[in-house]
Amino acid sequence: MKKIGIIGAGSMGRGIAQQASISGHEVVLVEIQEKTLNDAFAFIQKMINRFAEKGKMDNTEAVASIGRIYCSTYLSSLEKCDLVIEAVVENLELKKSIFNKVESIVSADCILASNTSSLSITNIAGSLRHPERMIGIHFFNPVPLMKLVEIIPAIQTKSEYVEDCKSMMVGWGKYPVVAKDTPGFIVNKVARPFYSEALRIYDEGIASIEDIDHAMTDLGGFRMGPFTLMDYIGNDVNYAVTESVFEAFYYDPRYKPSFTQKRLSEAGWLGRKSGRGYYTYVDGKPQKTQEEFHYQKSTFQRILAMLINEAADTMHMGIASRDDIDLAVTKGVNYPKGLLQWADEIGVGLVVNQLDELYHHYREDRYRCSGLLRTIAERQSTFYDA
Ligand SMILES: NC(=O)c1ccc[n+]([C@@H]2O[C@H](COP(=O)([O-])OP(=O)(O)OC[C@H]3O[C@@H](n4cnc5c(N)ncnc54)[C@H](O)[C@@H]3O)[C@@H](O)[C@H]2O)c1
Repeated sequence: MKKIGIIGAGSMGRGIAQQASISGHEVVLVEIQEKTLNDAFAFIQKMINRFAEKGKMDNTEAVASIGRIYCSTYLSSLEKCDLVIEAVVENLELKKSIFNKVESIVSADCILASNTSSLSITNIAGSLRHPERMIGIHFFNPVPLMKLVEIIPAIQTKSEYVEDCKSMMVGWGKYPVVAKDTPGFIVNKVARPFYSEALRIYDEGIASIEDIDHAMTDLGGFRMGPFTLMDYIGNDVNYAVTESVFEAFYYDPRYKPSFTQKRLSEAGWLGRKSGRGYYTYVDGKPQKTQEEFHYQKSTFQRILAMLINEAADTMHMGIASRDDIDLAVTKGVNYPKGLLQWADEIGVGLVVNQLDELYHHYREDRYRCSGLLRTIAERQSTFYDA
């Protein structure tokens, strides 16, 4: 795949364009708004030049990379592309109508990909004349730095296209993982309890925001605690993902959102970007108010058990393989280790006991233990050595 088209030059489109050009592809970047397109090109130039200044790339290579990018406001410029990646706003009808137009411009063997975070690839493919060429290629932000890429075949996708996209991503220095076309794919599904269980513990008054954050960083080795991370992502963005996964899974109580986060989002307390969220920010830094921390091991254990349960269920439902699930959380959300590997280290039986205790205490389906986790515990087996 020599020539790559990218539609939308917002935060994701410009990152994908930068990555594709430094990986040696000719790039056609199409954006509807001329100003955004100019800003995106200037941004990519700045980022590539910065790479060269830091010695990560030589100057000739930097100039050549920038020269490989062609910017346009017309979809017709995508005519000679071998792959087109769409990164416009998250709107199903808009994406479908764009792909419909693109299909009449590109050649019959051009692969069409969407960078959607939450929409069904199968649904988008369903509106195409050649649905077998549609695939999801889900990058993480910022694209040139984040190593994980989720590849999502629609049920109609030709299997060789999955392999083609995987090898291309390896060539770009990425770690591709394959996910079934289900809500949240891998990362946005498996990581939900990191936020939701932390919120639940806080909502019940079991621990403070700062204690929960410290339990996860100090005891768990996570880079950021859940509340610091939600503030970093933006409470509006994080709440919207939680709500969409909850709805998409037919209101499964496992993914139930929290009113605390909804209210923060409604108040415009979005986190770091608005100067206030769970924390107040001064010069972009969260201001901690507690002088001492009294975090409990049980806080960390409870959140970790819920994360492991979600990872196990994702494997059980055939959404992704064991290795891809663990790779997704270490490379996509920087967890200190894979959740299924972590389960083995703690002992799967112990995780099952923790979940059963929560289930018996609350009598809520939210805490039901994954069938796979229970089977492995009953066999006194492990995820990795079995
Ligand atoms: N931002 C993230 O962290 C992130 C991460 C992974 C995936 N995604 C997904 O990537 C996609 C893009 O997200 P984003 O954050 O870059 O959005 P964004 O709003 O920053 O950029 C979208 C761009 O698409 C342009 N656009 C809209 N209609 C167009 C059209 N008809 N033709 C050409 N350009 C058009 C807009 O002008 C805008 O510049 C979404 O589907 C989102 O879910 C986002």
